[in-house]
Amino acid sequence: MNGLPPILAEVRDLNFEQIQSLLLSAKKLKMGVVPVGKYQLGENRQPIIATSFLEHSTRTKHSFAVAIQKLGAMYIDFNADFSSLKKGESLEETLLTLNHQGVDLCIMRTSNSHQFDEFRENPPIKMINGGDGINQHPTQALLDLMTFIEDGHKLSGATMAIIGDCIHSRVGHSLMELIPQFGAKIILCGPEECLPKQVSNSNIILTTDTDEAIRKSDFLYVLRIQKERHTGPAPYYHNYLETQGVSLERLKRLGRMLPVYHPGPCNIGVELDRAIVKSDYYRGYQQVVNSVYMRMAIIKGMLCKNTS
Ligand code: NCD
Repeated sequence: MNGLPPILAEVRDLNFEQIQSLLLSAKKLKMGVVPVGKYQLGENRQPIIATSFLEHSTRTKHSFAVAIQKLGAMYIDFNADFSSLKKGESLEETLLTLNHQGVDLCIMRTSNSHQFDEFRENPPIKMINGGDGINQHPTQALLDLMTFIEDGHKLSGATMAIIGDCIHSRVGHSLMELIPQFGAKIILCGPEECLPKQVSNSNIILTTDTDEAIRKSDFLYVLRIQKERHTGPAPYYHNYLETQGVSLERLKRLGRMLPVYHPGPCNIGVELDRAIVKSDYYRGYQQVVNSVYMRMAIIKGMLCKNTS
């Protein structure tokens, strides 16, 4: 694989060949056919990798932490609340300081959409976006892609419905860029307030009708209603499961198996019912399993020239 760019902020930072190589590398790491361990990433020294999560996280932060340690790198969890960011130091100065201390790569989550743009011209350190505001979450989309393929979905000609809060979801935005590259169509489904007014990509269509989205899809990707990002009220929220959420009963009416993916965290009883999460339809834990291997592959791609 060609070395990945110093900043992986958006899906479009990767070309198709790099995406394919990441899929292969993650698969090999999962199968255990490539050795991993101390010093494998660096030439003759152990690389140092920091996570800096300026917003809450369970899955992303900890799967990166596991991936870093499985690769044998040194792991630092940078705690922004007790750092000089609180004394007014800029993020750029903070990142430069980490870099001068020997940190090779920083994985950052922030509530500021497009936060990484300011670092593109002169990266203070290599960086991976672990989610920036409502903009992008490229590593989540890549691990989802790995899971879809592993589950046997032929993406070319397939239809995936993304159901939920499509406009506030950085995961949704990254999937919309990634999945059509593999020939799949996307149905965006949710309350009007959660859908874009229009889309320019002919591979993406809009509907507010969950049953229609389910009927026309090969697999479903359910998103949380992200109330913390809304600027207005969400009147549909109190009876969302009944009107537009995904329940086992709704899926059973369809009469065929329809896998359900979710990036987590789930608000059970809102966008999904508990029966789905406990059923064979639910693939969320498989996404969590794959998150470690895809993130290992991405870290290798960022730090090594040859990652095969
Ligand atoms: C998502 C996120 O934080 O963007 N979760 C994740 O990273 N696995 C989705 C969400 O918060 O709803």
